[in-house]
Amino acid sequence: MPVTDTLDRPLRDLRISVTDRCNFRCTYCMPKEVFGHDFPFLPRQELLTFEEIARVARLAVGLGVRKIRLTGGEPLLRRDIEVLIAMLREIEGLDEIALTTNASLLQRKAQGLKDAGLDRITVSLDSLDDATFQSMNDVRFPVGKVLAGIEAADAAGLNPIKINMVVKRGVNEQDIVPMAEHFRGTGHIVRFIEFMDVGHTNGWRMDDVVTAAEVVERINAVFPLQQADPNYPGEVANRWRYEDGAGEIGVIASVTQAFCGACTRARLSAEGKLYTCLFGLRGHDVRALLRGEQTDEEIDAFLSGVWGKRVDRYSEIRSEGTVNLPKVEMSYIGG
Ligand code: GTP
Ligand code: 5AD
Ligand code: SF4
Ligand code: SF4
Repeated sequence: MPVTDTLDRPLRDLRISVTDRCNFRCTYCMPKEVFGHDFPFLPRQELLTFEEIARVARLAVGLGVRKIRLTGGEPLLRRDIEVLIAMLREIEGLDEIALTTNASLLQRKAQGLKDAGLDRITVSLDSLDDATFQSMNDVRFPVGKVLAGIEAADAAGLNPIKINMVVKRGVNEQDIVPMAEHFRGTGHIVRFIEFMDVGHTNGWRMDDVVTAAEVVERINAVFPLQQADPNYPGEVANRWRYEDGAGEIGVIASVTQAFCGACTRARLSAEGKLYTCLFGLRGHDVRALLRGEQTDEEIDAFLSGVWGKRVDRYSEIRSEGTVNLPKVEMSYIGG
């Protein structure tokens, strides 16, 4: 039975983090000083197994979920992720399975992901300039390999591909227009994301945010844009089309134009905690139920109960400027 929360928002999307590890150290997400060699990532037995993930997913689809996104950390680091995708593909009523990746392993894995039943892929890429990109991923990973991964995904049919660029003032703002130019006419959709104050470790300041309005203005000055309607109610990105027909871009204004009112997303962390907000402080321990003797009905009741009590609207509250709430890390909860 579909559920709604206290603000009448249905549960539609489930974002599943399959690992808290990543082979990048993006300065805005997993800065090296915090995520060093001795960082205590989750040991294997703490991670949900594929069977456990698939069980939660199946129950969540019964409650209204139509789209699942696999995230991390870096989801392609989870061994045999294709096996999980194939298991999720079996769930009746699920419309779409997507995955967000840094593309470091994509060239090798694209075809297998497609064959397992993955529908779409989103690639994080913050700059086309090698020096800038390497200083942002902080592990000297070259742009060329990410672009090769995108091509492999395209060839495998994992499209349209979305490319996520987090824009940070003074760091990669000069790459906004080149990024738009590079992907114009390819069928891929670049989405420019306002740098958010997720977690405690990225030293966020409002001064670091390049607003979505400014991004649109900069691109529009070179390649004229016109606004396009959302693909579905509550779409996170605002769509803009090139007037000359060369495709579209998206801007994600989580800071300057909060979109909590239509937020239908739940998140399952790698160790099986359910969060009803990206900025959620407390996760609900689903793993304990999965590993106990609980029946599907009991877990179902638990999930509906959590969603039914949901009140989250962090970004809106933050824009009102009244509070300073504690938060979880993006690499842990999965973007
Ligand atoms: P599609 O429309 O299916 O492509 O997915 P999406 O728009 O949800 O895109 P994606 O999952 O790639 O999210 C892009 C970025 O938007 C994330 O990396 C976050 O920075 C931001 N974002 C996504 N969901 C939320 C959310 O619920 N709250 C906030 N504040 N930001 C979000
Ligand atoms: N602000 C905005 N987006 C972020 N991401 C990670 N950290 C932040 C942040 N502080 C995005 C990345 C990637 C996804 C997993 O999360 O761009 O696309
Ligand atoms: Fe890894 Fe993505 Fe975080 Fe970068 S943004 S450190 S690629 S999880
Ligand atoms: Fe949804 Fe929380 Fe993001 Fe608002 S801040 S859009 S409630 S995840």
